[in-house]
Amino acid sequence: MAATGTDPAPSDAAASPTVVRNTRPTRWFHAATFVVTSVLLATGWWLRAGNEGRPSALADVLGTPDTEVHRWAGWVLVALAALGVTLGVRAAWTFVRETARVHRGDGRWFLRWPVGALTGRFRPHRGHFDPGQRLANVAFVVTLATLGVTGVAMTTLTGGPTFATMLRVHRAATYVLTALVVGHLLLVSGILPGYRGAWRAMVSGRVDGATARRLWPGESSPGSPPDGGHGPADPGSPDNRERLEAPD
Ligand code: HEM
Repeated sequence: MAATGTDPAPSDAAASPTVVRNTRPTRWFHAATFVVTSVLLATGWWLRAGNEGRPSALADVLGTPDTEVHRWAGWVLVALAALGVTLGVRAAWTFVRETARVHRGDGRWFLRWPVGALTGRFRPHRGHFDPGQRLANVAFVVTLATLGVTGVAMTTLTGGPTFATMLRVHRAATYVLTALVVGHLLLVSGILPGYRGAWRAMVSGRVDGATARRLWPGESSPGSPPDGGHGPADPGSPDNRERLEAPD
């Protein structure tokens, strides 16, 4: 398949080299965030459904009320965010830089998205993330930050109008986050043919060449520069060889 991104060509997959997309620390960070967010969604929805005082299965196992499990998981999420922007500052900066990209043609990528999701024939784009991922990244960060700020605020308050406002915003952000997580899981599940194989990028860290060229053509076509289309192309450059072949 050429860098047009128009041919999912599954038969290419076996022949093409794998492409490294995520390092081990990035994958661990993603996994930790996923686990903690799942605990927060589960306990949050349990409380939202009016079950406070009735321990969930998780609260039973941990021997702690759901409100406590939720608060503790909340602090773990806050700690993960702090680790991400300190120890992981370089990766965090790359994430911000790649998410903030806007290119001509991104609008047409969105118009063509339903066809791409169903057939694998996406419009090509430049950069590490496709335009949909960039939008989703912003939505995830804003929503999680809102939950963090309002959650921490609630732990310091015992009631009153500010608590009521924080709770309303916390609930609204929960609805948005739930929709985002469901959409994210739908895409990585591979139910939509265009996204088959994408899950490997966050599990093993690498995807086969055909999947990479279909979803991230600007970064993974042979000869494309490692910065996603903004530097000089050099198929034999050490950076490019490493991106295509390097082990974990
Ligand atoms: C994935 C992120 C999060 C989600 C989805 C979430 C969701 C929820 C939901 C649905 C509720 C129940 C609201 C209700 O009673 O109607 C709640 C309550 C609460 N959340 Fe979160 N939350 C998250 C993160 C956090 C964080 C980071 C903190 C701060 C440490 C936090 C602290 C609290 C507190 C203090 C309450 C009130 C619990 C009580 O009744 O005492 N949450 N959350």
